[in-house]
Amino acid sequence: MNKEEAKVRINELSQIIENHNYNYYILAQPTISDYDFDMLLNELISLEKQYPEFITADSPTQRVGGDITKEFQTVKHRYPMLSLSNSYNIEEVKDFITRIKKTIEDEVEFVCELKFDGISISLTYENGIFVKAVTRGDGTQGDDVTTNVKTIRTIPLKLKGDYPDFFEMRGEIIMPHSSFNAINAEREDLGQQPFANPRNAAAGTIKLQDSKEVAKRKLDQYCYFMMMDDDKMIFKNHYESLMAARQWGFNVSNFMALCKNVDDIEDFINYWDEKRKELPFDIDGIVIKVNDFKQREILGFTAKSPRWAIAYKFKAEEAHTQLLSVDFQVGRHGTITPVANLEPVQLAGTIVKRATLHNADFIEQLDLHYNDIVSVEKGGEIIPKITSVDLSQRKEESQKVAFITRCPECGTELVNIEGETAWYCPNSLGCPPQIKGRIEHFISRKAMNIESLGEGKVEVLFDNNLIKDYSDLYNLKYNDIFGLEKIITIDDEKTQEKSVRKVSFKEKTANNIIDAIEKSKSVPFARVLFALGIKFVGETTAKLIAKAMGSIDNIINASVEELTEIEEVGEKIAVSIKDFFSDERNINIINKLREAGLQFEQEKKSAKDDDSSGVLSGMSIVVSGVFSTMSRDEIKELIENLGGKNVSSISSKTSFIVAGDKMGPEKRKKAEALGIEIKSEAEFLEMINGKQNHNSSPTPSPESTLGVQGVLEFDF
Ligand code: IVH
Repeated sequence: MNKEEAKVRINELSQIIENHNYNYYILAQPTISDYDFDMLLNELISLEKQYPEFITADSPTQRVGGDITKEFQTVKHRYPMLSLSNSYNIEEVKDFITRIKKTIEDEVEFVCELKFDGISISLTYENGIFVKAVTRGDGTQGDDVTTNVKTIRTIPLKLKGDYPDFFEMRGEIIMPHSSFNAINAEREDLGQQPFANPRNAAAGTIKLQDSKEVAKRKLDQYCYFMMMDDDKMIFKNHYESLMAARQWGFNVSNFMALCKNVDDIEDFINYWDEKRKELPFDIDGIVIKVNDFKQREILGFTAKSPRWAIAYKFKAEEAHTQLLSVDFQVGRHGTITPVANLEPVQLAGTIVKRATLHNADFIEQLDLHYNDIVSVEKGGEIIPKITSVDLSQRKEESQKVAFITRCPECGTELVNIEGETAWYCPNSLGCPPQIKGRIEHFISRKAMNIESLGEGKVEVLFDNNLIKDYSDLYNLKYNDIFGLEKIITIDDEKTQEKSVRKVSFKEKTANNIIDAIEKSKSVPFARVLFALGIKFVGETTAKLIAKAMGSIDNIINASVEELTEIEEVGEKIAVSIKDFFSDERNINIINKLREAGLQFEQEKKSAKDDDSSGVLSGMSIVVSGVFSTMSRDEIKELIENLGGKNVSSISSKTSFIVAGDKMGPEKRKKAEALGIEIKSEAEFLEMINGKQNHNSSPTPSPESTLGVQGVLEFDF
């Protein structure tokens, strides 16, 4: 391909890819498989590498991130970013309407919208190209976060249709619950402080210096306001402008309504006050805006906010109750988390008995005393938290909550790592909850996948002195475990319910466990490395380390400097790895695992080496369309885990096709012409059902049951 041809192809690929992005993220109607999409993107990446002079600011390759921002530039807003005045009850909304009606004699139409709970952003478009994203800052000037914002798939880099030469789109960057929960689970798993709520997580993410990390965090964005010079405004009203923006490629919520009177507005507010619990992201109220631009001009602004709009804030889901006691829980990395036990109270449809207190600093900031009356809040799917203390009700004799100095489980003196808020129990190899936590991590699905040992069974084995660390699992015999029994209490953090359960190792259970332990010996090295539970070494990092180092011995012998040369391994992770392998006891455990036959070397991958024990071994499978019980990636993972090979295009060598909804017509034609069997999602699942390896079944993500975009449809 010569230079001219490359330029044309780069242009063409950019357009095709952005169109697929739009179909997938905005319309939720993909027309291409993930694999085919990746092929197009890879082609573009490699052409741009060859001809960097043709990389444009709106190229889809800019979305994957990569650039590091040392310092965000402060940029003055062309149009100030105002805020809205708030109202907290319908009377205040009525006052707002009455004030408007005093100035405007004609009929006034209102647009009611969701008030997204994230961070506001101003997006500048010049000749249809996204050029700049600036945070609100102080309203007059904000930070240029363009590189990070480009990674958000719902923000168009290039517009379609008949757009003005220059304008700004205002909107909110949000973090969906699915991303928030995944990030926090990983942070907790890695011994990092979780984010308090999705808004904080979104704000923290957009200010990250590494745009690649931003890309991973899966932010989303909704547009709600178009700004341009008054004499250039081509629309008569707000609603029209948003409908046009949607045509140009912007993500505009479906959940808005044109309202003629206060009753319509009240209905909208009440509907969403209830239904917001089902949304896949947080909203904190409703925004009510005058629709007509001429009427807006007449109404004008106060110093801080427009007179033509108001925010109705939902009452925070808050309750008042008494603090009874504080538990100190020990995590698998030894982190101590204080948890408040409360007098049970009704909050947002559930009974709350416990709330997280995060860490010692949090308790100090609240100046928390036993028996205090506290406010508890709950938002989204998050565990409730204590937000304030009612000092007027504090009894003189009540005792301040003091953070413990010794581990509640093993009595070891706690330590505090400089620069971190958390306290730790350093007795990692002798402290029971840390040992059990590590074993539970070791057997988890993404690690060794010995799931038949879950739900309290580890506790029974540990209490019976059968396992003192995870290497002991490989010495277990059927006769050791058959017949064991114990009544245990399971504490569900989410529902806050404790349930009592009898754990018993009957014949079938005992056999399954011994089988699963045996099978785990073939789990690939990267997952074994992850299973070891080294602090800060998550699933992805373990994969990168395994690939870069090739074997456990190379990792054990590597210096901190050598480790930091691995992609995504910084000083903190490298030191943690070094610490882990410097402990003689860990080396002994590794040696026992090695003797048991676990994989401590990176396998050389070739088609023949694929898991030949799997039910799909030797098969080439094409996955196409949209699925209802799992995401496409989860189906592909399942295929790989069962020994099959994912291929992108149909050929005579294709074993069969797994087709979801909206399989491309071209693919269907080709399959029929070649006589390749097309299996529906249900048929495929039935085929593998019961024949799966224990390490093969990814649980469907909560998002995949909500459809591609993860948005619930309501017909308001
Ligand atoms: S309109 C002139 N619409 O709420 C004000 N704002 O205090 C233009 N927000 O800073 C804002 N959802 O970050 C508008 N549908 C919506 C909104 C919304 C969330 C945020 C925005 C703004 C704050 C108002």
